[in-house]
Amino acid sequence: MTPEDTEHLAALLKQRSGLILGSDKTYLIESRLAPVARREGYANVAALLTALRTKRDEKLIYTVTDAMTTNETFFFRDKTPFDQFKSDVLPALAKARSGDIKIWCAACSTGQEPYSLAMMMEESRAQFPRVNLDILATDISERCLEKAQAGLYTQFEVQRGLPIQMMVKHFEKIDEMWRISPKIRQAVRYKKLNLLDDLRSVGRQDVIYCRNVLIYFDIETKKRVLEQMATLLADDGYLFLGAAETVLGITDVFKPMAGMRGLYIKNQAVGAQPLRKFGS
Ligand SMILES: C[S@@+](CC[C@H](N)C(=O)[O-])C[C@H]1O[C@@H](n2cnc3c(N)ncnc32)[C@H](O)[C@@H]1O
Repeated sequence: MTPEDTEHLAALLKQRSGLILGSDKTYLIESRLAPVARREGYANVAALLTALRTKRDEKLIYTVTDAMTTNETFFFRDKTPFDQFKSDVLPALAKARSGDIKIWCAACSTGQEPYSLAMMMEESRAQFPRVNLDILATDISERCLEKAQAGLYTQFEVQRGLPIQMMVKHFEKIDEMWRISPKIRQAVRYKKLNLLDDLRSVGRQDVIYCRNVLIYFDIETKKRVLEQMATLLADDGYLFLGAAETVLGITDVFKPMAGMRGLYIKNQAVGAQPLRKFGS
């Protein structure tokens, strides 16, 4: 791998997905791109990177960008953001809204996060008989969205984080795989969306889950994404970030909710700025 090729890759990834390659980049590039090099018929990763730089082939650029994203996720990941949703967010919004409660999972990977919310709503049906969640789940990766939409998971995937009663209730075993019930699957709408783009098409939301994606971006990109999200979130809405993420030191359009780790509300003292186009 020449320094020229790795620098080109790093610039490309930052521009296309926001991903900043860290100090372990040689290992990451090798491990993520070796299968792509094999599949695409290149002798090794170095040859793939040279082709990427010299050919400017959009399909190859997309394949490489996709392979470099981290899609790690599992049902009810970290538990707390789902407990907080059930104990505080859902009761508050159920009281404040007469229509649907709109939720956006902004980097949904293979669907475990939005499906966890849909299952949780189903389990809370007796307590909130009139509430309907309108769940929009987006991701940059078509490969992830296809898997999410299919709702088909391996034994390993359904065993990670999913309580056994929920697995039995909401999944059906099909050969070696587990398929989520049509009811839960239909509760989630999927759409391809790059968080670096103009996000206005998402529309007004009551709750945003943006978990474990901002960690891959630089501060300027995190700020742009968070400030766009503030313009979309209802004034009494909620933002969930991942356990390793924060708004502190990045933007003051959100503030942490006291005693609620990972949960943020709009900072009314600041107010969201009108949406500017990314890069303007
Ligand atoms: C680690 S997963 C997080 C999944 C889920 N939110 C969770 O916490 O379990 C990160 C996801 O962010 C997506 N992603 C990365 N860059 C993105 C971008 N610029 N726009 C939208 N999604 C992006 C990846 O494709 C990946 O599926």
